[in-house]
Amino acid sequence: MRISNIKPRKILDSRGFWTLETTITTSEGIVAFASVPSGTSTGKSEALALQAYEAVSATEEIFLDIAGKEFDSQLDFDNELIAQDGTSNKAKLGANSILALSVAFCRAQAKSKNIPLYKHINEIGYFSGALALPKLMMLMFEGGKHGSGSIDFQELMYVTESVDEGVLLYQKIKNHLEDEHLSTQVGLEGAFSPRELTNVKALKIMSRISPITPISLDIAQSSRTGRGIDFAKLFNDHKLFSVEDPYGEEAWSDWTSINKLYQSKVMVVGDDLTTTNPTRIQRAIDENCISGVIIKPNQIGTVSETLTAINLAKSAGLAVIVSHRSGETNDDFIADLAVGAEANYVKFGAPSRGERVAKYNRLITIQGELFQTIA
Ligand code: PGA
Ligand code: ZN
Repeated sequence: MRISNIKPRKILDSRGFWTLETTITTSEGIVAFASVPSGTSTGKSEALALQAYEAVSATEEIFLDIAGKEFDSQLDFDNELIAQDGTSNKAKLGANSILALSVAFCRAQAKSKNIPLYKHINEIGYFSGALALPKLMMLMFEGGKHGSGSIDFQELMYVTESVDEGVLLYQKIKNHLEDEHLSTQVGLEGAFSPRELTNVKALKIMSRISPITPISLDIAQSSRTGRGIDFAKLFNDHKLFSVEDPYGEEAWSDWTSINKLYQSKVMVVGDDLTTTNPTRIQRAIDENCISGVIIKPNQIGTVSETLTAINLAKSAGLAVIVSHRSGETNDDFIADLAVGAEANYVKFGAPSRGERVAKYNRLITIQGELFQTIA
């Protein structure tokens, strides 16, 4: 495939910050776009994004090099971008400039093959071909840097089998808060964050509303100002399915301890620790730090490296959780990525706010297509 034109532009993300959207046109006349999210509690080892206006210029600069060149595959294309950047963390051209091009290229290839994006991803990542909908870690309460009250765990989620189930629980929580005269205003990712609630109070509400639904937490320890957590007590008092970022992003030996101690009971999930970076995921595997891993394409900056990270995690038996960022756009690529890469779970926030709903609605569309294919 050859790229004959590109159009990068600044667009807004869900927090009112500028981000990048890039449209590419191929020599066959295929038009494809992508836009890039960004985090609030970003890991230190994530690939670096440029300011949106700088990313626009960087994308124009990249085009001078790739214009009209033939690229046989996603890997071929991504390797060219990585080589042109030349740094270990995409500091020169920006992970945002590179990712927007990489995702747009992926969409263009799917269009050129005339197959759905998730199917194309399934093929280029050499996954098994058993396409199914992942389970959902659906956000109910949020705190820390994402909320405004006294909850300081970043995310409190229900693990559900379907969007329907998650939405029903979200509405039940909302009704409960209204009954208790608590605020139903939402945080960055669309979940509730009433001032009066603490971590424990929010957890208790979730257990009361649905005692049988598993609960996942993202502690986001590197972004917390609160004291260290007594995990023995937390796990004893609450039945938790998984805990993400329980320790800081460089506290490798603490991770090994908690994972060894609890891995049969609670899934320990790396996010800021692993940053979708195959080298860091390999270290986390070697040091037995985690049993699940968060995958966020913008942490690493290309589709190919994201697929490598997923394959590495799968080969080590880790659960794969494809995740949004707190600063999102309406781009729904990660829904196709999750299905195509046969992820075990997705983390797309609460079922409110357009940028989160865009991903859930794409999953619903894919679900319909998969059901038709099987039926
Ligand atoms: P972020 O948060 O997008 O602000 O980094 C999401 C997460 O930590 O999972
Ligand atoms: Zn996280």
